[in-house]
Amino acid sequence: MSSQQLAGKTAIVTGAASGIGRETALVFAARGAAVLAVDLDGAGLASLRAEAGSRDLDIRVFAQDLTVSGAAERVFAHCAGELGPPSVLANVAGKGGDASATATTDDDFEFFLRMNLTTTFTMSRQAMSVFGDAGGSIVNTSSTFALVGVRGSAPYSAAKGAVSSLTRQMAADGGRHNVRVNAVAPGLIATPATRGKITDGLFDDLVTRSRPLPRVGVPADVAHVIAFLASDDAAFVTGVTIPVCGGWSTTRFRD
Ligand SMILES: NC(=O)c1ccc[n+]([C@@H]2O[C@H](COP(=O)([O-])OP(=O)(O)OC[C@H]3O[C@@H](n4cnc5c(N)ncnc54)[C@H](O)[C@@H]3O)[C@@H](O)[C@H]2O)c1
Repeated sequence: MSSQQLAGKTAIVTGAASGIGRETALVFAARGAAVLAVDLDGAGLASLRAEAGSRDLDIRVFAQDLTVSGAAERVFAHCAGELGPPSVLANVAGKGGDASATATTDDDFEFFLRMNLTTTFTMSRQAMSVFGDAGGSIVNTSSTFALVGVRGSAPYSAAKGAVSSLTRQMAADGGRHNVRVNAVAPGLIATPATRGKITDGLFDDLVTRSRPLPRVGVPADVAHVIAFLASDDAAFVTGVTIPVCGGWSTTRFRD
């Protein structure tokens, strides 16, 4: 794998203040991309920028709540002004949640759709409209909860399932314009969002012991697959959702 796999590319990474998005921004920049890191967490972005500076990586930051109207247009306009037009978009921002269907209110359902699906759609629509003739690559973040029914995850699973459907649909739309659209479906990954779950015994039994690769995933496991899908190494890959879960969603396994 080339360490300069993304050289010459300009990329937008959302959810970049924490976890998988932060690692994706760092991996993209380490592989030669100029990166605009987007998140609503300004302090987290400042910390990312400090780390990038100490490693001599080209990462700019832009604080933006992606759920508000016009956010996608503002992000792409900022990118054009700072770095020029992007050819890569990694939609990583998202939020998990635990609730069965009967415990999910209308407002909860709307929130999870807006946070995980609508932001992915509005950012991807904007990307497609600005990529131009040269095309580009979009990588979305789904979840293994989109691939397997899991108790107590109604609104999140529905939203992530739709992210995978949208990935296939926009891949069909984008092909003739040289735009590839793919997704990753992480399993349980150790990030600030999952800190409580990973130390929970029941979750450890249900998830970690029931997959063939016997360890908890880390953000770099996902970031490297996102970087591959974003790069020209994946030039003939579009419309797929790749599970990054140590085999949890692809095997029947019991320790
Ligand atoms: N960690 C896991 O186990 C796991 C598993 C499957 C899928 N995922 C998905 O991976 C992605 C990243 O998860 P993570 O674990 O790194 O989470 P995280 O909480 O560490 O990071 C998510 C980032 O998204 C940002 N964000 C949230 N709402 C936003 C908004 N409205 N506008 C802009 N930024 C916003 C947060 O500020 C945060 O920096 C999410 O889409 C999540 O659903 C994670």
